[in-house]
Amino acid sequence: MLVLHESNTLAPESSRSIMDSVNTSAQDQIVPVPPARIQEPLQIGNVPVPTRFFLAPMAGYTSMAFRLAVRENGGLGLVTTDLVNARSLIENRRRAFELSETCPEDRPVAIQLYGHQPVEMCEAARRMVGSGASIIDINMGCPVRKVVRSGGGSALMCDTMNATQLVESIVKAVNVPVTVKMRLGWDDQTPTAPELSRSFEGIGVAAVIIHGRTRAQGFKGNVDLEGIQRVVEAVDRMPIVGNGDVRTLADADRMFRVTGCAAISIGRGALANPFFFQQLDHWARTGQPGPEPSFEQRVYMMERHFHGLLERRGQHYACLQFRKTLKWYMNFTRMPKPLYLSLINLSSGEVFDEVLAEIKASGPSGELPSQFDAHIPVPSGPIDKW
Ligand SMILES: Cc1cc2nc3c(=O)[nH]c(=O)nc-3n(C[C@H](O)[C@H](O)[C@H](O)COP(=O)(O)O)c2cc1C
Repeated sequence: MLVLHESNTLAPESSRSIMDSVNTSAQDQIVPVPPARIQEPLQIGNVPVPTRFFLAPMAGYTSMAFRLAVRENGGLGLVTTDLVNARSLIENRRRAFELSETCPEDRPVAIQLYGHQPVEMCEAARRMVGSGASIIDINMGCPVRKVVRSGGGSALMCDTMNATQLVESIVKAVNVPVTVKMRLGWDDQTPTAPELSRSFEGIGVAAVIIHGRTRAQGFKGNVDLEGIQRVVEAVDRMPIVGNGDVRTLADADRMFRVTGCAAISIGRGALANPFFFQQLDHWARTGQPGPEPSFEQRVYMMERHFHGLLERRGQHYACLQFRKTLKWYMNFTRMPKPLYLSLINLSSGEVFDEVLAEIKASGPSGELPSQFDAHIPVPSGPIDKW
């Protein structure tokens, strides 16, 4: 293993190129040397997290079935549920309870709430603590019209005093740590994330997760690491979790070094490669990504994901949900195309099991990919129409 440089600093290193510190892996891939500080234990409030690699919330994808399957692969520090409407929880709507579902194996877990009314948010937060939330996460980043129109999501970032009062009331209402997930600001002219994060630290928020884009950007452009760094610099001790566009070890290394963040939250990269956390954790501990997942492990991940959906949500939902992720599983397992095609209109657990047996028997149709780039649908077009 070739070690060119190692850094052990806690300070952000925006001036240093990623290529200044690299290892060469067994496969001759350039692997950066992880910052030594990321081996230190981390707590979010009083909740210890096993690693500094978190699964970001993704509405429609981060179901408990997916979270449990990814957790079994190893390396996961913290998961967050899809965003859940606080009012719907109070009104006992079934959908809200499905979205916020958790179980003892699904820990530590942050349940993410959105809304803007303190009374509703506090009541929903208390109920979610009763349902097993290790952490309550407040959504302050969602750009979607339905959410911002009512004053929730990223709209909260526009009125920093109101946002701080809302979050403070939730911190006082529950006896678990409260975190906030936000963007850099509403747009380039209002980068309120550093100011808000500082206020949140003052009222006892346990961590802030920053997606390094503004609401106006949606998912366009590159993630602004210097923007996240400004948030890290604005607070004293509160952990800042960097988020956005982390798909490779090099991306993770850059996120840690440029921003000085305490942990990283990964969304789309985890859908494309559900073993990414295991690789990141191995890298953080050893400087190497460890072995690639085998064909059998990849197929087993797909099996657990589908069967988890089936057990919890029934055949109809499981089949529809699984179809959304099938393309990535095809890329990920290199299952033969005819077998992929026979799952496209999946309508029963029996068909899934039959095709799965054929996939296992046939093996991969080509070389298993080690770099994963799945297209995850995100809203596009003018942001006001999302
Ligand atoms: C399909 C989809 C659904 C999302 N749903 C949520 C959500 O419910 N709550 C939230 O805070 N962020 C949500 N996000 C944003 C992600 O958590 C994350 O901030 C963003 O995707 C950038 O990280 P990534 O590049 O690692 O995916 C969603 C993103 C996607 C693509």
